[in-house]
Amino acid sequence: MKLTKRLRILCEQLRPCKSFADVGCDHGYCTQYMLERGLCCKAVISDISEKSLHKAEILLAPYIEAGKVASVCCAGLQKIPKDTEEVLIAGMGGEEILAILREGFLPEKLLLQPMQNAPKVRAYLLENGYAILRDFTFSDGKYYDVMYAEQGGTVRKYDERCLDFGYDNLHSPSADFIKKVEEDIVKFRARIDRAQKSVPALEERLRVLTEIFHEAERNLR
Ligand SMILES: C[S@@+](CC[C@H](N)C(=O)[O-])C[C@H]1O[C@@H](n2cnc3c(N)ncnc32)[C@H](O)[C@@H]1O
Repeated sequence: MKLTKRLRILCEQLRPCKSFADVGCDHGYCTQYMLERGLCCKAVISDISEKSLHKAEILLAPYIEAGKVASVCCAGLQKIPKDTEEVLIAGMGGEEILAILREGFLPEKLLLQPMQNAPKVRAYLLENGYAILRDFTFSDGKYYDVMYAEQGGTVRKYDERCLDFGYDNLHSPSADFIKKVEEDIVKFRARIDRAQKSVPALEERLRVLTEIFHEAERNLR
């Protein structure tokens, strides 16, 4: 199976582990990636939707038969073993991801790709003992934020801007991130023009974006 760019980038962030779980797995491609490369010994696929989970069950049938993959239909982490080493939660809203973690448990390693509210997800990870080891934006038609975090790793220092924009985007910006900031600048300029009066919050955001754009261009990866 040829992965989309988004799934390929996500899969490339995953680390070898003893046990892996994909929460909200839908198609199951990420678990297939882990197993085909021998990156995990066993895995759990889970989804709140039976129909979605069934797609992954078909894809991974030989692994399920061999006892390497367990399939559970549940909300969030409800039926995921608590000693699972690495958990992927991708393609859901940031608030939903946070609800899943709050109601479930905090695995040793997490790969998260929230569709919105990335700053809240970063703050939650840092407040809950995670070191965020990778944290960047990439484009695949849309822009996506991805963060890989480990409990008890070496914490990189996050200031307000890192929380807002993502550590690696500011410290080693990619062309994708610079393009996103450039597009945001255009959007904010248009909003300010449409307002036809001074809107300090929008103007401040535009100032920050412009500053980040110039800094990022100087530091392009
Ligand atoms: C947009 S798809 C993303 C699929 C895959 N993770 C990816 O990134 O390509 C979201 C999936 O999460 C499932 N889902 C949504 N909320 C969930 C929850 N609270 N617990 C488990 N699965 C959930 C949906 O049924 C759907 O299959």
